[in-house]
Amino acid sequence: MQNTIREVIESRTSVGKYQADYQLEAGCIEELVRLANLSPSAYNLQNWRFIAVQSNDGKQALQQAAYGQPQIMQASVTFIVCGLTQGQTFIKETLALSVEKNVMPAEVATAWEDAVEQSHASNEELQRDEAIRSASLAAMTMMLAAKGMGLDSGAMGGFDGQQVSQTFQLADNEIPVMLITIGRAQKDNWSQKIRKPVSEVLSFA
Ligand SMILES: Cc1cc2nc3c(=O)[nH]c(=O)nc-3n(C[C@H](O)[C@H](O)[C@H](O)COP(=O)(O)O)c2cc1C
Repeated sequence: MQNTIREVIESRTSVGKYQADYQLEAGCIEELVRLANLSPSAYNLQNWRFIAVQSNDGKQALQQAAYGQPQIMQASVTFIVCGLTQGQTFIKETLALSVEKNVMPAEVATAWEDAVEQSHASNEELQRDEAIRSASLAAMTMMLAAKGMGLDSGAMGGFDGQQVSQTFQLADNEIPVMLITIGRAQKDNWSQKIRKPVSEVLSFA
């Protein structure tokens, strides 16, 4: 990555028209997911999964589930960013990775496992909130990573979640939170849209 984070944030736009013949360089998909996977999540649950839709058949099926939005066929890849519920069932395995490398004491991992069991197990609303929070953060990280790698991206929430879940065989605890198209933008995309002034969106307490 050559750009500073500020340049990346300032220059990212939501792309709707891609160069259809542009193919990602080898290793790009893994690198995008490696970086998105560094996003934070509550209790380090890492309650996300990414499906890279790159094949023609996959793109056609996804486009159909996304109400025909054309950018899915044009983009080099569209990621289905899934958020995972039922964190209490996999937190032990996830935290073990940090315990094994001495990044986290085993007692802390146990305490976090207990906390997630208590707070999540009987609270489906919280599980869904956490899945959406984590997947959204990962999606944003991925878009910034893409920009830093010289690529363009677009977030999409316009899709039929049930259709995506069925077509791409998501597990019962996987929610399709967002689609992220990635590729090279055509020249005639919109510029970044104008944001409200900071004075309107910031307050102090
Ligand atoms: C959660 C979310 C859902 C979105 N869904 C769609 C979508 O289905 N189709 C689309 O063309 N753009 C979609 N967008 C893109 C927004 O329209 C875009 O981010 C916004 O207009 C700001 O554009 P800018 O970042 O280029 O200024 C979505 C963006 C977000 C964050």
